[in-house]
Amino acid sequence: MVSTKNHSHKSLEENPVYWVEMTKKLDDFRLYFGKQEIVPIMIGGMGVDISTAELALEAARLGGIGHISDAMLPTVADRRYDTDFVKTKLTQYKYNLENADKTGIKFDLGQVAEATRLHVSKTMEAKRGSGMVFVNIMEKLTMNGPKETLTVRLRSALDAGIDGITLAAGLHLGSFAMIEDHPRFCDAKLGIIVSSLRALQLFLRKTARTNRLPDYVVVEGPLAGGHLGFGMDWAEYDLRTIVNEIHQFLRAEKLEHIHVIPAGGIFTGSDAVSYLEEGATAVQVATRFTVTKECGLPADVQQDYYKASEEDIVVNGVSPTGYPMRMLKNSPAIGSGIRPGCESYGYILDANGKCSYIDAYNREVELHPNEKKISVMDKTCLCTHMRNFKLWTCGHYTYRLKDTTRKGEDGKYQLLSAEHVFKDYQFSTDNKVALPD
Ligand SMILES: Cc1cc2nc3c(=O)[nH]c(=O)nc-3n(C[C@H](O)[C@H](O)[C@H](O)COP(=O)(O)O)c2cc1C
Repeated sequence: MVSTKNHSHKSLEENPVYWVEMTKKLDDFRLYFGKQEIVPIMIGGMGVDISTAELALEAARLGGIGHISDAMLPTVADRRYDTDFVKTKLTQYKYNLENADKTGIKFDLGQVAEATRLHVSKTMEAKRGSGMVFVNIMEKLTMNGPKETLTVRLRSALDAGIDGITLAAGLHLGSFAMIEDHPRFCDAKLGIIVSSLRALQLFLRKTARTNRLPDYVVVEGPLAGGHLGFGMDWAEYDLRTIVNEIHQFLRAEKLEHIHVIPAGGIFTGSDAVSYLEEGATAVQVATRFTVTKECGLPADVQQDYYKASEEDIVVNGVSPTGYPMRMLKNSPAIGSGIRPGCESYGYILDANGKCSYIDAYNREVELHPNEKKISVMDKTCLCTHMRNFKLWTCGHYTYRLKDTTRKGEDGKYQLLSAEHVFKDYQFSTDNKVALPD
């Protein structure tokens, strides 16, 4: 069970101080990058192509910040732009399909660059409105060559004109150095997601040499979706406490111009206002947008998100990244024993060409030599299942999504528009959520 201190909506109801703030709305605040004025709502990156270009573009059109994700962009490009990056890779490595050793499977850096440039530039060309589009780049996608692949991903996104990069899923101690000689190093907005003050301090210390501070820090608490920057003791932590520690540190170091952007469990406009009143300059949100038409999740999967009860949402260790991950417990990926998809994908292969799913899979194959279909319970093939939307990663408050819409006579919940959810965050007061027309 999660302790009540983690339920920000509960503390809003219980703590009279917050009642005063509830008459305020998020639209009373603005986030400033230099002279640029932004509605302080950032839709977080959700890979693989869950935070689509369409979703990010809506956020930008409405004056906020949207994220695309650079996770598995070669396959995303194949689906969107009719390229054949995955087929080319599979053809090259087909001979290795039955081999347990995946160390020889390398990414073609030229293709990674091309896929990134394609997705980023097509998105940026379509951008309208006064907001921004950033890209979420996860360090944990080590791609059997962590340094060279990450360098190409970061630089190609800048080449293609992205407004900003959010460094995610990792400490990123070397990431600024990878782009410090890029002509857009200073003009693009750069930020990092951290889940502790310590992670932020480490990042600042290691990147001090580049003379470039991050423009913003997303502070992601334990109720967020996707991989968590905590151990299995995540429920012991509380977003507000971590955010306050980071504010105090930045003030003491005279670094308060770095924007602090809390994330994880901010479900209503009033939740968001409570953080802005305390010094945050924007919030990052995601879960509420998973049930929008612009989100990349298939419509039937979105119904599963709506239907979920609190008990259906689990944090487990099946991700081969080593980070705990929150997901719906009926995700088809859990217990699936498919053959590792490294010849096509291979994003989790570490610097030595290893992935813990491969080990788990090979162990089960050895234990059940005569079985055609095996099951692997402790790990999952993250690449294949995320690519096929079979791993339903979600935020803690997914079980509240049903209260944000209407249920039709056919038993189906109505999908929302990104604009509706965005505006609900922007204009709602008194901890209310507006239902669609
Ligand atoms: C379905 C889903 C997928 C996500 N995938 C990623 C990801 O690929 N990279 C990342 O940094 N954060 C990811 N996140 C975290 C969000 O970007 C965001 O920080 C967080 O979920 C905000 O909390 P909320 O969902 O309670 O609003 C994901 C969240 C969700 C709900």
